[in-house]
Amino acid sequence: MPDSRVSVPRTNVRVVETAAQLRSEVTAARSAGKTIGLIPTMGALHEGHLSLVRAARHECGFTIATVFVNPTQFGPHEDFDKYPRTMAKDLELLDSVGTDVVFAPDRQSVYPSGFSTYVDPPEIANPWEGQCRPGHFRGVTTIVLKLFHLAGADVAYFGQKDYQQARVIQRMVEDLDVPVVVRVCPIVREADGLAMSSRNRYLDAEQRNRALALWRSLSLARDLVAAGERDGARVAQAMHDRLTELGVDRIDYAGLADPVTLQPVAEIQGPVVALIAAHVGQTRLIDNLRIEI
Ligand code: PAJ
Repeated sequence: MPDSRVSVPRTNVRVVETAAQLRSEVTAARSAGKTIGLIPTMGALHEGHLSLVRAARHECGFTIATVFVNPTQFGPHEDFDKYPRTMAKDLELLDSVGTDVVFAPDRQSVYPSGFSTYVDPPEIANPWEGQCRPGHFRGVTTIVLKLFHLAGADVAYFGQKDYQQARVIQRMVEDLDVPVVVRVCPIVREADGLAMSSRNRYLDAEQRNRALALWRSLSLARDLVAAGERDGARVAQAMHDRLTELGVDRIDYAGLADPVTLQPVAEIQGPVVALIAAHVGQTRLIDNLRIEI
């Protein structure tokens, strides 16, 4: 007899690990006339990821989340090995928001020996993240295109948290005529403004405090533009100064970009996006804010 005092978590979500299993799930959903929503993730899930699943559930009859820490988007000295892997908790969270299927392949099945075809990312991948993380977007475009194919996605959900990534994927979809609608969902933040990130769990309490510098610097940029500042370089300088004052350890970049082309903005004449990447301790954090005028 099962012990009725032990609560066994009720999991309805189905976990599949192979392309063949995923395909049979997708075929069944399609023949039931369902629209397929895809949420690619690297796991270590938080409310930001779950907001994407909720958006997918709202629009699509069948939702597939993927959990795969994609080695090809990490540089040789980056955190691939120590990237948090919390699969049991991730499944619980994905189940709680009604995900239908989780695709969690292993590295070998995604990149079997002999794998050598990559997607060359569009030009908008070159500045900002592209400059700091050579090869990063090539890994992202390659895995995302593979996931689009594997999941037969109709609609795919990405967060504005990775602003340039979302733009790069939108551009790839346009350029390569990929039949997937890309949705970009708002950044989910902690109550004090820190953008949720899987990497926040690397921060100790003191670093967590200093990490707020990113949001404060973005807020300053917004306030300066609202007060009439139109010189992009002056705003960028003020962002750098604020980050330094508030104790980040290293700034990779901080500045204003055109929201479509991602080019740095010299004179603010329309909407811009303020972008930051900075290190707190060993942790590299990114954040951004769209600023309207
Ligand atoms: P990951 O960092 O796990 O993020 C998965 C998705 O969640 C991305 O689209 C990201 O922008 C979104 N996201 C992360 N934090 C968010 C937040 N605070 N608010 C809203 N959305 C948020 O991005 C990747 O994985 C990978 O590059 C991937 C696309 C899965 C390819 O490997």
